[in-house]
Amino acid sequence: ASTAATSVSISGDISSQLHAGYNHPLSRSWQAERQLTKEMLIYPLFVTDNPDEETPIPSLPNQYRRGLNRLIPFVKSLVRKGLSSVILFGVPLHPSAKDALGTSADDPSGPVIQAIRLLRFHFPSLYIVVDVCLCEYTSHGHCGILREDGTLDNAQSVDRISDVALAYAVAGAHCVAPSDMNDGRVRAIKLKLIEAGIAHRVLLMSYSAKFSGCLYGPFRDAAGSCPSFGDRRCYQLPPGGRGLARRAIQRDVAEGADIVMVKPANSYLDIIRDAKELAKDIPIAAYQVSGEYAMIHAGAKAGVFDLKAMAFESIEGILRAGAGIVVSYFVPDFLNWLS
Ligand code: PBG
Ligand code: ZN
Repeated sequence: ASTAATSVSISGDISSQLHAGYNHPLSRSWQAERQLTKEMLIYPLFVTDNPDEETPIPSLPNQYRRGLNRLIPFVKSLVRKGLSSVILFGVPLHPSAKDALGTSADDPSGPVIQAIRLLRFHFPSLYIVVDVCLCEYTSHGHCGILREDGTLDNAQSVDRISDVALAYAVAGAHCVAPSDMNDGRVRAIKLKLIEAGIAHRVLLMSYSAKFSGCLYGPFRDAAGSCPSFGDRRCYQLPPGGRGLARRAIQRDVAEGADIVMVKPANSYLDIIRDAKELAKDIPIAAYQVSGEYAMIHAGAKAGVFDLKAMAFESIEGILRAGAGIVVSYFVPDFLNWLS
């Protein structure tokens, strides 16, 4: 006699049944270890020394260089949508603004220090990160001070870059983020912050694993920071250099970094995962750089995929790899999409 009418026959392996776990939008969202929230996002801003300027950057869709008078109304509209944090890049346009030492990087009347003050005043809850480098301010476009043979003078560069970081911190930056890649700059900056008595209120986010390559082109258009000779391969990491990246991450943690960053993001997800494992006790940031952003726009324009779908998929990959903080030019879009 058969009992088929009342019993269920299980022929397969129960562990083969996965669909139940994600057949609903909510259960699908539960599958991610980390959901994207607005608090994770940092938005890059290019600030020029021409107060009324608002110039689109051709290679960086929807992004502009703005002067101080244009910055405040623009940021206001984003803060209303839930913007938590910005990272500032200075773009000096005055012909006299660049010299061999990057003197104007910490000019108190320059665009970055003025922007820090203005943003702090107008948006008390906005978290202000400032990129620290010399390449926007040096006549040669390199990320430090050069020896006569054209190579970076590490000791001089670190001394200058830590002075610049201190000036931004004193002006009110919540976070200073050195992107220059000179050896030992994290320690030098931390020591100057301690000496100035402000180490307790200034976070140090190091661009620890920053790779050289071809993904920074649109940024260099935006910031006017293309090297006038040579390239950055002797200070930014070689794309295959996983071991160097791991050493740089561990070194920067030991030197006092409060956050470590991996950059670019989407082509370096394994490095983000390495950072997550090596720097277990501090937050990990990833920078979805200008070339990655421009590529997604170009792909969408060519009909390869939908822009919003790809923007989400790219960020989800970055979070899954282990980042909890993402710097991205898509932030204004995400503020709309996440509302
Ligand atoms: C400055 C700096 C760069 C970026 C961030 N800080 C350019 C570079 O190193 O050449 C790149 C960001 C981007 O491409 O979006 N050192
Ligand atoms: Zn630089």
